[in-house]
Amino acid sequence: MRVTQTPPKLPGHPLLGHLVHLARDPFGLLERARAVGGVVQMHIPFAGPTYLVTDPDAIDVVLVKRAAAFHKDFSTRFLTRLTGNGLLTSEGKFWRRQRGLAQPAFHHKRLVSYGDTMVRLSREHAARLDGSIDVGHEMMTLTLAIVAETLFGADVSAEAHSVGAALDEVMRYYLGVANTGILLPLSWPTPATRRFLRAVAAIDEVVFRLIDEAKRRGEGERPDLLSMLLAARDEDGQAMDERQLRDEVVTLFLAGHETTALTLTWSLFLLSTNPAARARAVAEVDAVLGDRPATLDDLPKLRFVDAIVAESMRLYPPAWMIGREAQEDIELAGFPIAAKSQVYLSPWLMHRDARFFDEPLAFRPERWESGELLRTLPRFAYFPFGGGPRICIGNSFAKMEANLALATLLQTLDYWSQQKVAPGMSPTVTLRPQNPIRARVSPRRRQ
Ligand code: HEM
Repeated sequence: MRVTQTPPKLPGHPLLGHLVHLARDPFGLLERARAVGGVVQMHIPFAGPTYLVTDPDAIDVVLVKRAAAFHKDFSTRFLTRLTGNGLLTSEGKFWRRQRGLAQPAFHHKRLVSYGDTMVRLSREHAARLDGSIDVGHEMMTLTLAIVAETLFGADVSAEAHSVGAALDEVMRYYLGVANTGILLPLSWPTPATRRFLRAVAAIDEVVFRLIDEAKRRGEGERPDLLSMLLAARDEDGQAMDERQLRDEVVTLFLAGHETTALTLTWSLFLLSTNPAARARAVAEVDAVLGDRPATLDDLPKLRFVDAIVAESMRLYPPAWMIGREAQEDIELAGFPIAAKSQVYLSPWLMHRDARFFDEPLAFRPERWESGELLRTLPRFAYFPFGGGPRICIGNSFAKMEANLALATLLQTLDYWSQQKVAPGMSPTVTLRPQNPIRARVSPRRRQ
């Protein structure tokens, strides 16, 4: 069968297309596009043919069935300015090899050994909190410490502040690019470019220290991911060069903490506006853990905590948009999609779709409790970690970390949010709250 009919178009400005909507109200734009069809043509100047896909079977084609026909999209490629040729942005044979090298650090056996560190660092962090806090900032500091110690065998507490500030700057830079559609060469010394380069230099400083420390340490008895990457050799016996190591470490460092921190931040916000769910979660944590530190063996019993994390990632998926570029002509849901087209899939949009979820905008963790929903949903109605060969390498790590950290925070802290209405969402690389979420915390006194 020859497919000739083109996908429906979302009406937009004759010259600027959807650029202004994208800058002012990207979420409204997504919702309007969904109403037009399962594969909708958008108009983003300079991006070439661009499509939004909301048909779960067509998403399956992009991420799984025809995954080899796609590379990352052009806006993800902007990220190479920060992550270079690391796992998130590399392609083809090179990506496959690097993924194979990193994978053992995420095997179940290794994850088990990270659980105690996740709980210890969560308890230590909670013990330092008393008074008014910026929830997002605290969660970033915690997850940064966790990823640094588990994957890189390092303590970065002294640099947590500068890494956090650098990361805020990087996100502002990418938000500026998304809002204007303009990406100037890095050699143009605009104030925004200079701030971005300073931020990358601050992150690099920490990353090169981690690499130097790992080199001095050698493989040791309990090799971490960094020492494994250092020891890796290609078919010609060559080690990874310093630049590639830096790119992999920056990628894992960033992908490995920002997203989980956001999951915890949104979870705490959602619980603070839903006292009944919070009371249930606290009762569960008390019944399962009492005063002792959580362990991995407790996770199957902390079912409501798990449901809260799942529901938080449904409403606020940290990776709210996934992009691909077709490398060849391909058919999607009966429509022809030309090579070089940009194809976008939005977990945020799918997760708030009334076709799949009752009361899609309501925070109802109980919907996940029996496991029935996950069994009956189309595969790509809920996909906070993506899917197919490029699925998040850290998905089990992240779920384990979010559950253990959230249980520990509920166990050890009393928490009152000063944020009563949902904060706006900042649609940068990840889905951040637009303004800091503030809360008052104090050590918990159990009756
Ligand atoms: C709640 C937490 C997290 C969420 C929601 C999340 C989400 C995602 C998603 C959606 C992708 C796929 C992107 C695409 O297909 O274009 C991805 C890829 C990736 N994630 Fe995560 N992630 C999380 C935590 C982590 C953690 C803890 C790590 C590492 C410790 C990590 C490392 C990576 C890496 C390296 C990739 C690229 C994998 C590849 O292309 O081979 N992520 N993540």
